[in-house]
Amino acid sequence: MFPDHSFAPLQLRGRQLLPIVQGGMGVGISAHRLAGSVAREGALGTIASIDLRHHHADLVEQCRADPRHDTLAQANLVALGREIEAARKLADGHGMIAVNVMKAVNAHADYVRAACEHGADAIVMGAGLPLDLPDLTQGVDIALIPILSDARGVSLVLKKWMKKGRLPDAVVLEHPAHAGGHLGVTDLADMDNERFGFERIFEELDGVYATLGISRSDVPLIVGGGINSHEAVRRWLQAGANGVQVGTPFAVTEEGDAHPNFKRVLADAKPEDIVEFISVTGLPARAVKTPWLDRYLRNESRIRVKIGQVKNACPTGLECLSVCGLRDGIEKFGHFCIDTRLAAALRGDVSNGLFFRGREALPFGNAIRSVRDLLELLLTGSARPAVAHRAAFALS
Ligand SMILES: Cc1cc2nc3c(=O)[nH]c(=O)nc-3n(C[C@H](O)[C@H](O)[C@H](O)COP(=O)(O)O)c2cc1C
Repeated sequence: MFPDHSFAPLQLRGRQLLPIVQGGMGVGISAHRLAGSVAREGALGTIASIDLRHHHADLVEQCRADPRHDTLAQANLVALGREIEAARKLADGHGMIAVNVMKAVNAHADYVRAACEHGADAIVMGAGLPLDLPDLTQGVDIALIPILSDARGVSLVLKKWMKKGRLPDAVVLEHPAHAGGHLGVTDLADMDNERFGFERIFEELDGVYATLGISRSDVPLIVGGGINSHEAVRRWLQAGANGVQVGTPFAVTEEGDAHPNFKRVLADAKPEDIVEFISVTGLPARAVKTPWLDRYLRNESRIRVKIGQVKNACPTGLECLSVCGLRDGIEKFGHFCIDTRLAAALRGDVSNGLFFRGREALPFGNAIRSVRDLLELLLTGSARPAVAHRAAFALS
């Protein structure tokens, strides 16, 4: 277990954890190896639920032989179950294993049920308001953690959930100006808005909690987006956060579940390579301007004018999103197949993949280090020297 550090533990449903949370990263970027390795150190490790079949050769083969929607959807549920079980085994009773579910995903309720069935310790839900989460998990002893970006969103969820007799076990506050992947803001021009500032949210929520008769120990706050050093961890924990969520720095660890090329792209990206754009979900997203994204962005306005309102058959047959700019012909949304692009990135296909990444520099520069080293650096300010090459990658 982890050596001494000076921070209070993050308390979740009676468990004491390191105050660093590993954010869920799809498609397949945080699967069992990353989440299990993080939990093993005594923290919350998160499996991203979406489209995990890509990590399982037998399921990929099954889907190739029978590419109907139901086969693909079922393969993903089998994959999620396997990943949770493998992560729990790796964690060996330490920490907690969460499953990240995006509300914007068609199968979100199935992923939640599978997470409960296979013994996940927590569900972390973002990309939409998780108003149905208490109903979906009724009677199950599992921590529920919404991801939101401002006090208004938190207040709304608290009020709706309290009517159902349930409180979130924690809330993740993700800052749209810094985080990777989909961002919790409808308009890119809005991402620096002061209402997303963590200090301001803490202040506003003090009032909301008081009105609702609850306290911070009832619903701890975890802040995420651009937290990349011991100093940043210290700053936010001292400012009143109960934990910090970290994404990109975990994606590039040795234990990260993506291909080494994926980690190289993220680790080597310079500030000018990191861009924001509108995803097929309609939400802004942040990624590295790799060859495919560069091409897409250069042609984006032409694509919108030409085919923006054309409806398309879902190219993979998975129908992953409830609303998709490409399938549903929504002009102002993105127009590409996000599942195909993210799966290509997972496999390390630099030319064709979409590589989500947070905005800030990484704690170890462009070095690939272990989960243990990263946690140690973030919590104590120093890490042991690098050990020569321990990389491991397998799409089994
Ligand atoms: C490659 C990548 C994929 C991500 N995928 C998801 C996801 O599937 N669901 C989600 O809620 N957040 C996702 N995120 C956001 C992270 O969980 C995390 O909150 C965020 O990246 C924190 O900012 P940081 O990367 O600067 O640490 C993703 C981030 C990255 C970098």
